[in-house]
Amino acid sequence: MPTPPSAPSRSDLAARIAAAVAGVAREGYAVVPDFLPPEEVTGLRGDCLALWEAGRFAPAGIGRGGQRQRNGAIRGDAVLWLDEAPQSAPLQRYATALEALRLAINERLMLGVFELEAHFAVYPAGTGYRRHLDRFRDSDLRTLTCVLYLNEAWQPEDGGQLRLYLDGAADAPYLDVIPAAGTLACFLSADFPHEVLPARRERLALTGWLRRRG
Ligand code: OGA
Ligand code: MN
Repeated sequence: MPTPPSAPSRSDLAARIAAAVAGVAREGYAVVPDFLPPEEVTGLRGDCLALWEAGRFAPAGIGRGGQRQRNGAIRGDAVLWLDEAPQSAPLQRYATALEALRLAINERLMLGVFELEAHFAVYPAGTGYRRHLDRFRDSDLRTLTCVLYLNEAWQPEDGGQLRLYLDGAADAPYLDVIPAAGTLACFLSADFPHEVLPARRERLALTGWLRRRG
């Protein structure tokens, strides 16, 4: 008799966290497919879509404070910060997973990250985010960027790849990450310029930054 697929256990998550930390320690970035089991991703996508359909998102800004601007030519996504979203059970479980990642990263890399800031992001079809670094001119607190993708059955021809430039040079080699449901991409925020290529379908992500204390 075939064995029924067993429910993913805590140790699966621990192994994926270890894979993410090992990648960041070795190369500064990691891409971990199936970071979360499908039912958790489905729950997060459901939260994201319900909030999106309820009109809770706002066009993303560029920069911060007085320098905040909107510019759809640079980035076309709309975001909802998690501290303004209801704390659903899937979000609480994801926060617990990122807390475990935070502790493991601090232990292995001594980055001294203490806080998480995170938002859902929806890129309507046709939009992307031009090449940038995840640090604001006036703050270098963002230390590790962690993006979890929530898109079912994403195909390479749907576009929307995260293009991660592997060194700072203009003609640097790059890695394209397909934003498939359950994939986690994480990288040192200060070291990796990146962009989101235009997507041909609506593209959903849950993006977080582990930050040092201000
Ligand atoms: C960002 C970003 C990447 C992605 O929100 O700063 O670069 O793949 N997101 O969604
Ligand atoms: Mn970014």
